[in-house]
Amino acid sequence: MDTVTLQSSRIVSGMRPTGRLHLGHYHGVLKNWIKLQHEFDCFFFVADWHALTTHYDDSGVIEESVWEMVTDWLAAGIEPSAVSLFLQSKVPEHAELHLLLSMITPLSWLERVPTYKDQQEKLKEKDLSTYGFLGYPLLQSADILTYRAGQVPVGEDQVVHVELTREVARRFNHIYGRERDFEERAEAAIKKMGKKNVKLYNQLRKAYQEQGDTEALDTARALLKEQQNLTIGDAERLFGFLEGGGKVILPEPKALLTSAAKMPGLDGQKMSKSYGNTITLREPEDSLAEKIKKMPTDTNRVRRTDPGNPDLCPVWQLHEIYATEDQKQWVQEGCRTAGIGCLDCKGPLIDAVAAELKPIRERADDLSEHPEVVRRIIEDGNEAAREVARDTLEEVRSAMGLSYK
Ligand code: TRP
Ligand code: SF4
Repeated sequence: MDTVTLQSSRIVSGMRPTGRLHLGHYHGVLKNWIKLQHEFDCFFFVADWHALTTHYDDSGVIEESVWEMVTDWLAAGIEPSAVSLFLQSKVPEHAELHLLLSMITPLSWLERVPTYKDQQEKLKEKDLSTYGFLGYPLLQSADILTYRAGQVPVGEDQVVHVELTREVARRFNHIYGRERDFEERAEAAIKKMGKKNVKLYNQLRKAYQEQGDTEALDTARALLKEQQNLTIGDAERLFGFLEGGGKVILPEPKALLTSAAKMPGLDGQKMSKSYGNTITLREPEDSLAEKIKKMPTDTNRVRRTDPGNPDLCPVWQLHEIYATEDQKQWVQEGCRTAGIGCLDCKGPLIDAVAAELKPIRERADDLSEHPEVVRRIIEDGNEAAREVARDTLEEVRSAMGLSYK
């Protein structure tokens, strides 16, 4: 069952600065962020510590990529007035929460996360049997829980990390959410809502706890969210009390799956730097055209006169993303009847990608001339992030018994 999301309108997501951003990042992640930025209270950050877990021995690339990446975010359409953009390593609370959570996280939970073994296999040339790398998903949990985010926009491969986060939060609340006088405090908090709401809250709580009425649970949660005169602590108690548990200090987040299908690269595999099949967000026009012209096509189409099959061709996969309906039909027919050649077929694709990238590249060039603007945006974001982080950590420390003066 879902525990409440106290701050369900808050969204957190991070990206590792390990090289140039490419169309895979744009279609897979950034477009989604851009859509979310006006709908939610978004915190997007550069996960430089996460990059360090795999790039500890060539950290130069991280340093180079940090500002380039933020520049690309802005160039792609992230609006700094709508979201908080920050650097993970500038908000030390992430590290503190990571440490504190490590106390209650069983080793086996981390060893069982599939990305742990998968990545070790995939990046064989690196020694990833480190403490830091094992802790990668827990650091991610700390990133998320620091902001008590309701939702985390991620790709399929990251869902397991959000799941771990939920388990860790649940364990934390279970261990530290039980104040000795919890019931009394909850009862006192209920009274602060005013007569009518007290009655309603108690009815709904009863309906849920005695009859398992989940609609009543939802209604009660909505009621709590509307209350203006409850402190955060009291609200946490009442959310927990509803379900028969203790105080919900760290709400469990949900994964918000990116709907975009995987972005195919130049060779038909998923676009990824490690496959060398990318088009970067700032790809110059001539090299963009060059890369697409060199793309492999249906291997059965040896001569211009051989008919082809788009289903067997990486170029078609990109047409599916970029082409209009008319163009798609033109490709399908032309390919299967050998009516068009592969270079003809690639023409509209080159144009479409170029048109998509032109404004991004131009904005990135502008921003690159004013690095102080980008730095300022990040400084403001760091501040905003720290403010939220400070509050969470204060509560966490106090729940763990670490708030002595
Ligand atoms: N692990 C994520 C990735 O590789 C990046 C990341 C770090 C992240 N911390 C996060 C994503 C917190 C979402 C929330 O894509
Ligand atoms: Fe691929 Fe287009 Fe050539 Fe057909 S015509 S094989 S779809 S590039």
